[in-house]
Amino acid sequence: MDPEKEVLPLIGSKEGIAVVYLAFLNSGDIALVPTPAYPVHFNGALLAGGDVYSLPINKENDFSPDFSSVPGEVLKKAKTVLVSYPNNPTAAIASEEFFAETVVFARKYGLILIHDFAYSEITFNGYRPPSLLQTKGAKELGIEFHSLSKTYNMPGWRIGFVVGNGDIIDSIFRVKSYIDFGIFTPIQKAACLALTDSQDCVKEIRQVYQKRRDVLVRGLTELGWEVELPMATMYVWASIPPSYSGMSSLEFSKFLLQKTGVVVSPGIGFGEGGEGFVRFALVADEKKIEKAVRQIGSIL
Ligand SMILES: Cc1ncc(COP(=O)(O)O)c(C=O)c1O
Repeated sequence: MDPEKEVLPLIGSKEGIAVVYLAFLNSGDIALVPTPAYPVHFNGALLAGGDVYSLPINKENDFSPDFSSVPGEVLKKAKTVLVSYPNNPTAAIASEEFFAETVVFARKYGLILIHDFAYSEITFNGYRPPSLLQTKGAKELGIEFHSLSKTYNMPGWRIGFVVGNGDIIDSIFRVKSYIDFGIFTPIQKAACLALTDSQDCVKEIRQVYQKRRDVLVRGLTELGWEVELPMATMYVWASIPPSYSGMSSLEFSKFLLQKTGVVVSPGIGFGEGGEGFVRFALVADEKKIEKAVRQIGSIL
C-alpha cells in the first residue's frame, strides 16, 4: 500500500463506514447491504440519504449474498456494495473465491466495494481469513476497514483505519476534513506501538475468546440448542429454540433477560434478516458463561 494515498486512520472503523456513505451516496442512490448486518452498514447509508437494498445471508445460502438476485433497476441506481467477513452478527466466514466473485460483480456494475474486516484477527484454531485486497483487481474499486478495537482490545480508544483504492480514500479524507480534526495524538502513538510491537497480546486475546466460545457452544449444545462452532469473531449466532419459536427475537431476548438474567442481542437489531435469531457475545469470562448456560438450562 502507498501510505500517503492508500491508508487513512479513522476514529474507529464505524466512523469511516458512515463517512464513506456520506461521500458517495446521493438521494436516490442505492447501497447493497447483506441482512443481517452490523447496523452502520445499513443505517450509515440511510443517514446519508441513500436507499438500502438488502441481500439476505443465512445458513441456506452459506451466508453469502446472492448478487445474481439483484434486479436490474436496483443495479442501475446502486453505488456501493458492502460485505464483511468474519461476520458480525452471524460469525460466518468467506472464501477467497467469494471475494473474487464479489470483485467481478462490483466491476461489472461500477460499484464501490466496501469490506469491513473488523474481525481480521479474532480467529480460532489457526484460521486466517482472506483480505479483500488479496483479490486480483480489488484495489481498483475496493476499500477495506480495519479496527484496533477488537485486535488490541481498544474499543474505547476509537481508532481504526481504511486501506485500498486511493481515489475512494481521498474522498473519505475530504469529507472527514469537514467533520473532524483526526485522532488524539497519544492514541495514534499507542496504535502505532500496538501494530508494530510484539503481537503476543493478539494471540492471548484469541485464546481468551476461543476458550469462551468453547464453553458457550458446548453448554448450549448440551442443552439441545443448535449452534455452530464459529471460526472467528466474538459472537455465537443462534436461532430461537423451537419451544419459543412463536416469540419475536426482541420478545425472546427480553424473556431470557427476565427469567435468567442473561443478555443476548435480538437478531432484529441487525436488520430484518436477523429476525428469529439472537446473538451471544463472548464478553463475559468462562465462569460467568458457565453460569449463564446453567440459567438458560432452567428455561429450556
Ligand atoms: C463488523 C464491525 N465493524 C465495525 C465495528 C466498529 O469498530 P470500531 O470500534 O473500529 O469503530 C464493529 C464493532 O462491533 C463491528 O462488529
